[in-house]
Amino acid sequence: MFLHDKFGRAITDLRISITDRCNYRCVYCRTGNEGAQYADLKLDEYLRMVGVMVSLGIEKVRITGGEPLLRRGVVDFVRQVARLRTASADKLDIAITTNGHLLEDLAQPLKDAGLNRITVSMDAVDPEKFARITRVSGGFERVLAGIRAAKRAALDPVKLNCVLLRGFNDDQIVEFARFSRDEGVIVRFIEFMPLEEGRVWSPEVVVTLDQIVKTLSAWKPLRELPANVASETARRYTFDDRVGEIGIIAPVSKPFCGHCSRIRITSDGKIRTCLFSLFDHDLYSVMQRGGDDAEMAAYVRSVVEKKEARHHIGEPGFMQPSRSMVHIGG
Ligand code: 5AD
Ligand code: SF4
Repeated sequence: MFLHDKFGRAITDLRISITDRCNYRCVYCRTGNEGAQYADLKLDEYLRMVGVMVSLGIEKVRITGGEPLLRRGVVDFVRQVARLRTASADKLDIAITTNGHLLEDLAQPLKDAGLNRITVSMDAVDPEKFARITRVSGGFERVLAGIRAAKRAALDPVKLNCVLLRGFNDDQIVEFARFSRDEGVIVRFIEFMPLEEGRVWSPEVVVTLDQIVKTLSAWKPLRELPANVASETARRYTFDDRVGEIGIIAPVSKPFCGHCSRIRITSDGKIRTCLFSLFDHDLYSVMQRGGDDAEMAAYVRSVVEKKEARHHIGEPGFMQPSRSMVHIGG
């Protein structure tokens, strides 16, 4: 029994943001200054929402932000989410997306608490470029240490997300391929989407899947790998010697909305049925009004019904949502 939308897509994958605060200010995400902030909920309140979602058939929970590791109590939160693995949801998959800055000390405790997998955002394998993109200094070494700690803790797989921006870090493509091969991590290049606070997106800045494939192939012959699951967002590749894995997520040049399985909860407890939704659905207020789990579940069902068919990036009339990625949660 899954959640389904009106197009028949099964919704099995929840992303929940547990804060919109962040200790980095990545150029493709935030403006240089503070920006808007919404109030975070209590971790128990997110937990209740996750519980309702799991009872509705959600199989994957990804904890995001902002930067989720800034939340004190995140390890215990993962432990509580892991307790939702019951007979009917014994395979519940729990993942975190983090910038990695605080990961070195938290990787093992998170693993022990029941975390399966981790994705670290890293947009350059060069300390200076890294600082230019994240607008903090000294981050690169910490993130590197965090990635290695995650490998040691046997979080599996460890993935890196790299958002490519023309003129900023598109010279890092081959460097990242080397990094994947040397460190045994999956590197995923993500096409830049118009979801940033600073409104700097333009089609010219996007480094497309075709361009990435061309650059990698010129360095070493690529081999495409089959998708793990139908709703896989990344096209997967390895090299002719099967060392290293590269994923390319191409929401702009090759949209995958037709098999989207995702739903999101923002750090202030609103449901978003699409990254590009122009409206939120206020699950928190249903909870605050004293709604029981059954009422929350009914609300979620009615909202999922309305999930958008697809995004309209690059089409005339496209409207960028008023809330940016840091508020929505990756
Ligand atoms: N376009 C594409 N990816 C983005 N991310 C953040 N903002 C954008 C954007 N505008 C990525 C981050 C993180 C993941 C949650 O989403 O790098 O890895
Ligand atoms: Fe923080 Fe992630 Fe946004 Fe970078 S992309 S500023 S790490 S929320």
